[in-house]
Amino acid sequence: MTKSHIESISAQLDASPTSRHLVAFISHQLRAAKFVDFSNTAVTTANSGFVATAGSIVAWRSGKQTAKQGFRIVGAHTDSPGLHIKPNPDDHKHGFKILQVEIYGGPLLNSWLDRDLGIAGHVVLRSGEIKLFRSNNAVARISQLAIHLDREVNERGLILDKHLHLSPAWSTNDKSPNFIDWVAKQANTATRQIVQIDAQLFDTNKATVIGSDGSLLASGRLDNQASCWAAISALLESVSGAATQVVALFDHEEVGSQSATGAAGPLLEHTLEQIANSQKISRVGFIETLKMSSCISADNAHAVHHNYPERHDLANAPIINQGPAIKINSNQRYATSAQSAALFVGACKRAKVKHQLFVSRNNMPCGTTIGPITATRLGIDTVDVGVPQLSMHSAREVCGVDDLTSLQLALKAYFK
Ligand code: CO
Repeated sequence: MTKSHIESISAQLDASPTSRHLVAFISHQLRAAKFVDFSNTAVTTANSGFVATAGSIVAWRSGKQTAKQGFRIVGAHTDSPGLHIKPNPDDHKHGFKILQVEIYGGPLLNSWLDRDLGIAGHVVLRSGEIKLFRSNNAVARISQLAIHLDREVNERGLILDKHLHLSPAWSTNDKSPNFIDWVAKQANTATRQIVQIDAQLFDTNKATVIGSDGSLLASGRLDNQASCWAAISALLESVSGAATQVVALFDHEEVGSQSATGAAGPLLEHTLEQIANSQKISRVGFIETLKMSSCISADNAHAVHHNYPERHDLANAPIINQGPAIKINSNQRYATSAQSAALFVGACKRAKVKHQLFVSRNNMPCGTTIGPITATRLGIDTVDVGVPQLSMHSAREVCGVDDLTSLQLALKAYFK
């Protein structure tokens, strides 16, 4: 992986503790590259543009022959599992001020223990304005019980009560501000202006290249901000072609995608139709273009774990730094078909990068992605792919740096 790629993905990961921060970061990049912001206006003729709404964003570069060549879409998700702060979170216990949290998605709960945690989110103000905020340093910690008070933890495994054991302590001073007052200060506003807060914890540890050979990237939120980075940087580095190039990044995948801005909502379909309309393609013509379109749904895959090889089907299990994986499930938990797989294999060949395959063991339930949802909604042939990683849904995950570049190059070849 080149130094500039590592710097660019690390900058994105460190700037994006929440899906809204990620969308703000990407919107800024797109504006700088002269993509027109249609978030608050109707989509009109433009070479390239984007629509951002809450934690989701769709960006595109118009093709010269969309009516004949359709859309080439790369999809990914912006959210990651973790711990969100509840409304009325303030509590006092045994010398600590603590915060009440709610679990978002399916995090590895143990991974949030003994970390230096920051808090980030957004506030809705009386004026209707929405403001992002984040703490500049660590302010909270969920401490694990000492082994002397939990003697069998290493043999029996760690058992956490989801309601009782996940509250972070964030002060030992009774007089320190309540949560809303603290948030007001972070958001540079007055407490009385705040109508509602949406906040979550994040690990303040920055993205770091590790390994004696510097071949691994460790960070929070690699699932799935790694795919968001590959998709957006591929789009930014491409030039216009015959088909319209689209990147669709959705919030709420980790909780099932059923939301106004999730992949099960109308965001992508509406935006594609608006793009088609701006290119003077009729509604009937638009439906025709969908038949000629394709979608690569990018979401990280499980790499073979060196300590647990028995958890994988080793005939179809990706190895770190040997290329992005095509994810296959005949029960359609992944959208990949033989035909759509061939599409991605072709893109990898043109990009001169390796690819691998992932199929889960029959006795191991497999996850799902936005791929099948997009395929179902739009009837577009879709392939599920992803960078292999370890520790999926941990507060700190790890993947191979070469795989990030390989996915980015394959997506560029797909757009071309
Ligand atoms: Co994911």
